[in-house]
Amino acid sequence: MSQAAQNTILVTGGAGYIGSHTCKALAAAGYKPVSYDNLIYGHPWAARWGPLEVGDLADRNRLNAVFERFRPAAVMHFAAYAYVGESMNDPGKYYRNNVVGTLSLLEAMRDHDVGQIVFSSTCATYGVPEQELIAEDHPQRPINPYGASKLMVERMLQDFGKAHGLRAIVLRYFNAAGADPDGEIGEAHDPETHLIPLVLDAAAGRRPAVTIFGDDYATTDGTCIRDYIHVTDLAQAHVLGLRALELGAASAAYNLGNGQGFSVRDVVAYAERVTGRPVPTRTGARRPGDPLRLVGSAARIQEELGWRPVHSDLETIIETAWRWSNRGDNSFG
Ligand code: UFG
Repeated sequence: MSQAAQNTILVTGGAGYIGSHTCKALAAAGYKPVSYDNLIYGHPWAARWGPLEVGDLADRNRLNAVFERFRPAAVMHFAAYAYVGESMNDPGKYYRNNVVGTLSLLEAMRDHDVGQIVFSSTCATYGVPEQELIAEDHPQRPINPYGASKLMVERMLQDFGKAHGLRAIVLRYFNAAGADPDGEIGEAHDPETHLIPLVLDAAAGRRPAVTIFGDDYATTDGTCIRDYIHVTDLAQAHVLGLRALELGAASAAYNLGNGQGFSVRDVVAYAERVTGRPVPTRTGARRPGDPLRLVGSAARIQEELGWRPVHSDLETIIETAWRWSNRGDNSFG
């Protein structure tokens, strides 16, 4: 088998929100990201830092051809469906794409002797929190199929590690938010379900109001609490994870959060301040599958990999997302 191209990284989901920001960080760090994306949710204009190979994880022939052509030294695996609500109604879609699709990827990696992967996992693998600040050793008992699908992949990575020597850095994100501070890329989901872009749409008058999903939770203002982390800080953590693998690190799982919780109403208040505009709200029913509070400790990745979030204060998150949401036209490219 021919030698791997040391700085080439295969990025599944590289045309998606977090994947594209990570491709930018990889390019800035001297790597060549090759995006592999089926474009169901990704956007061709977001894959700006290297080649885009259109394909599905389930398509082994296509994956094999891409591995043979680019000979990546490692994989970063973002491609997944990530709508919690949809996963409750259509679990098969999540298990097929996120679990079976990943199995196809791991077998292709095994067949092409690619032994390093950075994997996008989620705080949704923890389920209902038993601690104020969730650490990596918190029990993993997901309460929705999306979280369960990611946990199954974590397990597959362990088993492929034992059997084939695969080393994996698993990153469990809390709530990814914000946009590239240079304004080159940002969040563009369709449908958009995430709180911050919806709040900003309401501030801009692009939608009449944002619905608060339940205000009867046992929190100070009755709304759910989340830990928002800037997508550019997340991207940087992937580069650090990759470097650790290159230096021979053993497999490990890390939380990526801020350790600070904000309620839905806090987010609305911050958005009003940052934008200088009112955000009309109405109160609706709780959303099934939503835990009341998800706040994580990222102490482990700070200590072991030296990760430091620099954009993750809520003002910066909202301010970068606001600039992106007002770009006028996202049909770049
Ligand atoms: N929310 C509203 N109204 C809305 C949208 C959201 O009140 O219109 C609330 C939600 O109930 C939740 C908070 O705002 O309390 C944040 O919701 P998001 O949909 O923005 O994000 P989630 O907390 O649902 O994120 C979860 C997991 C992530 C996972 C993501 C996948 O925490 O790990 O779902 O979409 F990646």
